[in-house]
Amino acid sequence: MAADTTEPGTGRGPSQSAFIKACRREPVPHTPVWFMRQAGRSLPEYLRVREGVQMLEACARPDMIVEITLQPLRRYAVDAAIFFSDIVVPLKAIGVDLDIKPGVGPVIADPIRDRAGAAALRRLTPDDVPYVAEAVRALVGELGDTPLIGFAGGPFTLASYLIEGGPSKNHDRTKAMMYGEPELWAELMGRLADLTVDYLKVQIEAGASAIQLFDSWVGAVAPEDYRASVLPYARRIFAAIEPYGVPRIHFGVGTGELLGLMGEAGADVVGVDWRVPLDEAVRRVEPGKALQGNLDPAILFAPWEVIERRARDVLDRGRTAEGHIFNLGHGVLPTTDPDRLARLADLVHEASAR
Ligand code: CP3
Repeated sequence: MAADTTEPGTGRGPSQSAFIKACRREPVPHTPVWFMRQAGRSLPEYLRVREGVQMLEACARPDMIVEITLQPLRRYAVDAAIFFSDIVVPLKAIGVDLDIKPGVGPVIADPIRDRAGAAALRRLTPDDVPYVAEAVRALVGELGDTPLIGFAGGPFTLASYLIEGGPSKNHDRTKAMMYGEPELWAELMGRLADLTVDYLKVQIEAGASAIQLFDSWVGAVAPEDYRASVLPYARRIFAAIEPYGVPRIHFGVGTGELLGLMGEAGADVVGVDWRVPLDEAVRRVEPGKALQGNLDPAILFAPWEVIERRARDVLDRGRTAEGHIFNLGHGVLPTTDPDRLARLADLVHEASAR
């Protein structure tokens, strides 16, 4: 394994990268860029290595994690790698009976609907996920100066999968518990927050340079309910990670009305989907935060001229933020042409070079 090049004052290492500097709202040589879901189904080489290997099996094999995490970096001049895994991996690791069904997503055998179900969610120890620390360490060695982003699912999103039993459009049972059984909700969310802290610590202690909390489906919640029923748990997670000093990113989809509160939860960077222009997001998020986003992932199916115009518009609006990390407004769609993403990463660098 290569030596960690993060030496204070050497001017090298992930901590000196444009990505980490932008997260910290420091001056950068160019706007850093990475793509949510940059690894995965849009890459033919991903589909090849995954042939005959179940998703959860791939997530438990360090050789697979390392290879798939590195695949997009061979194609794209991205400024960060994101650890290949899934948000349900820590749930599986503490014994929740679940599977990831192709074309569907996470499916839970016994959805959590009562106190006994919630009580089964225990704390996670590094021994529950030895493959995570092993893969992170190997990746940090391979990546050199390129930062590795660790991640976890946000508490509302994990609760929704656990309560509904699978993907849900309306999150009706989840909200029924949030509105109607506040004590049970608090018990479940508290346990998910603790588990998430445990899991993020494993990644950070093994060498991850930043973390992102994907509360993908929290945009379904109204602001006052977010404040009362979700924010305390997100805050607990970010506060527990703060002593490590790694940048923390907080992302959800359809969260235009929640951006201010998601900033208040304590992240260093607030992720914005494509529905709110970044200059407007700047007005919604308290000062002292960087922003990440927010090109519509579907723009990548339009002619290149349109992609270029929209990407430049994102960069222009992003200049009004204290720090900007270019990304899509949500994950890369599976039928995206990888050559388009390669060209987009280059455009971001060229158009933003200072
Ligand atoms: O960004 C990356 O490249 C890292 C990999 C990553 C995956 N899942 C791999 C994956 C990340 C960051 C996730 C997070 C995740 N998982 C989220 C939050 C991010 C988001 O998109 O909002 C959510 C909501 C999940 C739950 C989940 N897992 C879904 C909705 C799906 C898709 C189901 C399908 O097949 O349509 C999964 C499975 C999954 N996670 C795949 C990948 C590459 C596809 C499985 C496969 O290739 O067989």
